[in-house]
Amino acid sequence: MAPQWTAQPVLAGRGLVKRYGNEHALAGVDIDVTAGEAIAIVGPSGSGKTSLLHVLAGILPADEGQVFLAGQRIDQLNEANRSELRRKEFGFVFQNGMLVDELTAQENVALPMLLGDVAKAQALRAAREWLDQLDLPGLAERRPGELSGGQAQRVAIARALAHQPKVIFADEPTGALDTRTGEETMRALLDAAAQTGAAVLIVTHDRDLAASLPRTVAIRDGRVASEVPA
Ligand SMILES: Nc1ncnc2c1ncn2[C@@H]1O[C@H](COP(=O)(O)OP(=O)(O)O)[C@@H](O)[C@H]1O
Ligand SMILES: [Mg+2]
Repeated sequence: MAPQWTAQPVLAGRGLVKRYGNEHALAGVDIDVTAGEAIAIVGPSGSGKTSLLHVLAGILPADEGQVFLAGQRIDQLNEANRSELRRKEFGFVFQNGMLVDELTAQENVALPMLLGDVAKAQALRAAREWLDQLDLPGLAERRPGELSGGQAQRVAIARALAHQPKVIFADEPTGALDTRTGEETMRALLDAAAQTGAAVLIVTHDRDLAASLPRTVAIRDGRVASEVPA
C-alpha cells in the first residue's frame, strides 16, 4: 500500500446543501479543514457563511451532503450525540459573546467543561488559567455586564478554547467591536488557537484580517466562489 502523505482533514464537508423553502442557503459546498489551520470565510451578507458554519458544526442539519470529523461521519448522529460532540470537539465565538449573564467570567469559561465530564475544581482552575492567558487577570469574578465589549469577547474566546477543541467556529467575532479592539481580539483568538492546535474558521468582513490568514474561502450564493491560495 502506498504511504499516506496527505494528512486527513480534521473537518470536511461534502456536497453540503441547505434550503429554506425554495431558496438555497448552501448549494453544494465542499470544504476540507486541515488540523490547526486558520481559514477566513468571506462573502456578501446572505451568501451562506453562517449556514456553512452551522452545518459543519452540527447546529443545523444539512438537507444533502456529509460532514466528517477526523474521517468519521458526524452529520447522521442524533441530536444528543451531536450536542455532546459540539461540547467536546468544537468551540464557538459569536458576534456578541453569548455569555451567560448570571455567571462570572470564570464560570462562563468553565461551563463547557462542567457540562462535559471535567471535575469542578479542575474546570475552574483551567478557566482561570485561560483568563490569565487572554490578558484578563483580575476579571475572573466579574459578570458579563461588568465587562467591556472587548473583554467580553476575550472571555468568549477563553470559553471556546478551554476544553481544547479540535475546531473553533467564529462568526463575525469582532463585528460589534471598534477596529482596534477588533484587531487585538482577533489576534488573541488566533494566538490562543495556534497554541492549542485548534483549527479556526473565522467569518469576517475585515479584508486585512482575511489577507493576513494563510487561506481564504469566499462564499457566494451558497457556493465556494474562490479559494486563496487556490
Ligand atoms: N432561519 C432561516 N430561515 C429562512 N431563511 C434563512 C434562515 N437563515 C438563513 N436564511 C437565508 O439563507 C441565506 C444564507 O444566510 P446566512 O447563512 O445567514 O448568510 P450569511 O451568514 O453569509 O449572511 C440568506 O438568503 C438568508 O436569508
Ligand atoms: Mg452570517
